[in-house]
Amino acid sequence: MGTVSAASTAFASDNAAPAHPRALQALHDVNEGTAAAYGTDAVTRRAADALRQAFDAADAEVLFAFTGTAANIIALASAVQPWHEILCSDVAHVLLDEAGGPVRLSGAQLTRLPSDDGLIAPAQLDHRLARLGAVHHSQPRIVTITQSTENGRVWSAPAIGEFVDHAHAGGLLVHVDGSRIANAVAALDVSPAEAIADADIVTVGGTKNGMLFGDALLVRRPEHFSGIHFVQKQIGHLASKHRFVAAQFLAMLEDGLWLDTARHANTMARRLSTGMTAMGLRLASPVEANEVFVHLPADVHRRLAPSYAVHQPDPAVPVVRFVCAWSTTESDVDDALATLRVLL
Ligand SMILES: Cc1ncc(COP(=O)(O)O)c(C=O)c1O
Repeated sequence: MGTVSAASTAFASDNAAPAHPRALQALHDVNEGTAAAYGTDAVTRRAADALRQAFDAADAEVLFAFTGTAANIIALASAVQPWHEILCSDVAHVLLDEAGGPVRLSGAQLTRLPSDDGLIAPAQLDHRLARLGAVHHSQPRIVTITQSTENGRVWSAPAIGEFVDHAHAGGLLVHVDGSRIANAVAALDVSPAEAIADADIVTVGGTKNGMLFGDALLVRRPEHFSGIHFVQKQIGHLASKHRFVAAQFLAMLEDGLWLDTARHANTMARRLSTGMTAMGLRLASPVEANEVFVHLPADVHRRLAPSYAVHQPDPAVPVVRFVCAWSTTESDVDDALATLRVLL
């Protein structure tokens, strides 16, 4: 019988990466005896403190969820009433990749704003804010932005600061989808607090950055998200054995491991994109974090597919995404470049 070789998933997604040994060790270490359930245990308290400390947010509430989609939905659904409007970019994960979950579970309207790879100009908010108070229109209540963005871009500290201040001045709350916040912090080389500016609530990614599972919510202004614990419970993301999510966050935050893993992923993306441009390929977006979007002729992508499973976000556009993770090695990158060189 012949063997069937599967395409490598090395650049398919940071979700394809294995879990970091220190996250797995934390799971093993916390698996000792009994502990209070549903987030009332000591490990969860310590993990929440570590997150508050990392983001310099002493008064924030911290919640944990199994997935980034759930964390985003909990944040948005607890901010709005059904007559409200949630604003997001035209490439937002909440818009394109959450199967309508934010709309279904909030009842609110989700409105896309034009963006540059997910980076939204503050003035884009003004068109929507002009509808405030008019009974015929959904009322803008919260804007969600992504750091780093779905297209691998990073909001600089001044840009996100200006955007959040503009949103607040218009009466909007701000959510940051930080499923890849560590990649943004590492890329910017600023403090985590600077990378989220004055945002009211932040999804803090864990899974994509080395955890087996788990993302967190940092709720800096809990008074605007009063039902948040009930929403978390309703959608089934209040983990009973909560300590197993929390222990992984503790491990990742300890000694800055979460930024080391992200920095490494970013470095691999830079190595990959530099090699691609050196062989004449054209990048579709500047490479600022751990994702590379590159123009690939359809026949090259077709011939690459048996070797590498890489995602083409829009079937109508010949742009392919390569994602680097904490586990991507230099030889992974060099092998992919060698394969591309042959195909070209
Ligand atoms: C920007 C962004 N937000 C949220 C998510 C959702 O994460 P999950 O797949 O854990 O629900 C993803 C996943 O790819 C993402 O890329």
